[in-house]
Amino acid sequence: MKKKIAIFASGTGSNARKIIEYFQDHPDISVGLVVSNNPTAGVLDIARDHHLPAIVINRQEFREGTQLSDELKQHHIDFIVLAGFLWLIPAWLVKQYEQRMVNIHPSLLPKFGGKGMYGMHVHEAVCQAGERETGITIHYVNEQYDDGNIVFQTKCIVEPDDTPHTVAKKVQQLEHRYFPEVIEQLMLNNISQYHLSLPKNNLFPLL
Ligand code: GRF
Repeated sequence: MKKKIAIFASGTGSNARKIIEYFQDHPDISVGLVVSNNPTAGVLDIARDHHLPAIVINRQEFREGTQLSDELKQHHIDFIVLAGFLWLIPAWLVKQYEQRMVNIHPSLLPKFGGKGMYGMHVHEAVCQAGERETGITIHYVNEQYDDGNIVFQTKCIVEPDDTPHTVAKKVQQLEHRYFPEVIEQLMLNNISQYHLSLPKNNLFPLL
């Protein structure tokens, strides 16, 4: 039986789309469920177009978790991918999917992470700080925003005439290029326990 991913997303879902497409004909992995907290999120249209089951959760249910936990079981979900999901993950879910849940963040964490640091806020802060480079971070999820152990980072240059919008485009290209492959490597256990247990900021260059 294939290993199954649940994608959690709150918005457009461009990363979700790339992940769904990447695993469409994969021999060992498939996307089995899309979860959103936002009934008007674009990611729900993407799920529908790909004939994938999708659910919308409310905040109280998410905190308590009974229904979501059942859904994850019913769909045999092995691995959770947060792709632009804006709610903090509750303790029960962190525990249930320890080392089996990753998030992508559009900066080089620990820089420009934490509560409120999402979407254009991140790229505006990067430009305002006069950073010469930025990038993406893929990390395991714990009970704090953008704080779990990092498994992958890659960079792009910020030119003096870049704007938050042009930076966002560069970063999005990196996300689309690397996120599905990093998920695949993690799910197929191509990263050893040794690397997984490295302390934060001790990066493992996958590719
Ligand atoms: C991405 O930039 C991701 O890094 C962040 O949220 C954004 C989601 O974009 N966590 P999309 O909905 O996948 O287009």
